[in-house]
Amino acid sequence: MENNKNKKRGKVSDKDTYAHRLYLADFLREPVIRSVIQALKLPSGSRGLDAGCGIGSHTLMLAEAVAPAGHVTGLDISSEFLAHAREKAKKSSLSEHVFFQEGNVNKLPFDDDLFDWVWSSDCVGYPAVESLTLLKESARVVKPGGIVAILGWTSQQVLPGYPLLEARLNASSPAISPYFSGKRPELHFLRALGWFRDAGLKELNARTFVGNINAPLNDNIRNAMISLFEMVWGNAESEVTQENWEEFQRISQPESPDFILNLPDYYAFFTYSLFSGKVAK
Ligand SMILES: C[S@@+](CC[C@H](N)C(=O)[O-])C[C@H]1O[C@@H](n2cnc3c(N)ncnc32)[C@H](O)[C@@H]1O
Repeated sequence: MENNKNKKRGKVSDKDTYAHRLYLADFLREPVIRSVIQALKLPSGSRGLDAGCGIGSHTLMLAEAVAPAGHVTGLDISSEFLAHAREKAKKSSLSEHVFFQEGNVNKLPFDDDLFDWVWSSDCVGYPAVESLTLLKESARVVKPGGIVAILGWTSQQVLPGYPLLEARLNASSPAISPYFSGKRPELHFLRALGWFRDAGLKELNARTFVGNINAPLNDNIRNAMISLFEMVWGNAESEVTQENWEEFQRISQPESPDFILNLPDYYAFFTYSLFSGKVAK
């Protein structure tokens, strides 16, 4: 969910700013992530890996799902994100059940058959992550019969009443990031079942989950939505008409009298798609 404008401004290299975006996004994502975790039916007491764990929010939810005897390792390449994750864990009741470690998902620093499952959310597709390698590495560190699951944000409908504007904004490169025009179609996230097959995983499954946003919006959800507008379309100006851009500004800026999140009947949704498979026995 990074965008190029932020990269140019140096915002994304500012890990705290990006960590704050992840923190805000959690207010939107938590219910849907919990549904996904529930659907995976991770065995109680199992041991898992959250690959590309960011600030560790999912690591904690996963640990809760396998409690009281389970354990989850959160792995990320960013020491700054891991510092946020450790802080978060310390404040939770699950600190004994999680461990955070720096490392690269393309070369997992673990022995074979160590985990019962691997989870990776909003991670594949980014430049430093090789999707097939991540899946092969996950299959290596998961015991036979264990689960490999990857999850990714796949769409949003968040400008009710402006379907054409939203479609035009969605036709811009920031909106399709981390996919980009010219990238091989088989590298698009919705083609992930092919990567699972190529990694030798079995019992493949693909499902999409919906997160709902209903008025009245509390401050956390409002701030998360404002951050989302900026992340998904903040750099789309050069790819839409001036008229479209002005209309987007008019409805997406909190100070505007037409700010869309002030609609008393605002409703929106977004989707997360889950791909999973099992390591052959
Ligand atoms: C969009 S964030 C998602 C974080 C978290 N999974 C979530 O859903 O909140 C992507 C994460 O992948 C991490 N990452 C990117 N490339 C990586 C790599 N090669 N190895 C490990 N982590 C990586 C980033 O540091 C970042 O924390």
